[in-house]
Amino acid sequence: MKIAPSILSADFARLSDEIGVIEEGGAEWVHVDVMDGHFVPNITIGPLIVDAARRSTNLPLDVHLMIKNPDHYVEAFVKAGADIVTVHQEACTHLHRTIQKIHELGAKAGVALNPGTSLETIRDVLPYLDLLLVMSVNPGFGGQSYIEASTAKLGRARAMLDEVGSDAELEVDGGVGVSNVEEIVNAGASVVVAGSAVYGHPDGAAAGVRAIRSASGA
Ligand code: DX5
Ligand code: ZN
Repeated sequence: MKIAPSILSADFARLSDEIGVIEEGGAEWVHVDVMDGHFVPNITIGPLIVDAARRSTNLPLDVHLMIKNPDHYVEAFVKAGADIVTVHQEACTHLHRTIQKIHELGAKAGVALNPGTSLETIRDVLPYLDLLLVMSVNPGFGGQSYIEASTAKLGRARAMLDEVGSDAELEVDGGVGVSNVEEIVNAGASVVVAGSAVYGHPDGAAAGVRAIRSASGA
């Protein structure tokens, strides 16, 4: 199981240090939440911050694009240092083409599904994915509560990936913490995103990463 702390919950006045701390805690990836204020009701960061994160760590940057028209911006994020670019199925008119474009740019391609979006909408692109992201909150903010139905959806997603023989990562994002990470991993998630559970940990973010790993049983 990989842990991908979301820097959305980090202190941006000390971003480089905040990335160093999760690296110290053993995080495998850095999850970067990009929001445009149109696809979701919040505005966060763009390629400039991905570039800053790139210069702060060698860990893979797992960039989650919660934006409209991601085709227009994928190249900028890959050039800024994104290793994995995840687009929302709901934001893509030509999803297969978008995935091709991410691969042509040399990055790994992920697709994210909101809690209300069926797994069936992405069945035909499964063979091309490096990552499938199942949102367990409605996107836009950190610190929300885990939507319990997400665990069953993760199980269905794992079954679909196994059915097509995909080796894509299955990532869960939103409301993950020590109380639910074991059930989430048992349902088939291979990567867990955690923002507030890591950066809000009373003993610091490194302890937050370690606490999630020990609670996962993985
Ligand atoms: C929400 C983001 C998530 C969020 C996770 O739109 O995609 O990555 O930052 O934060 P927590 O773990 O606090 O729910
Ligand atoms: Zn995210």
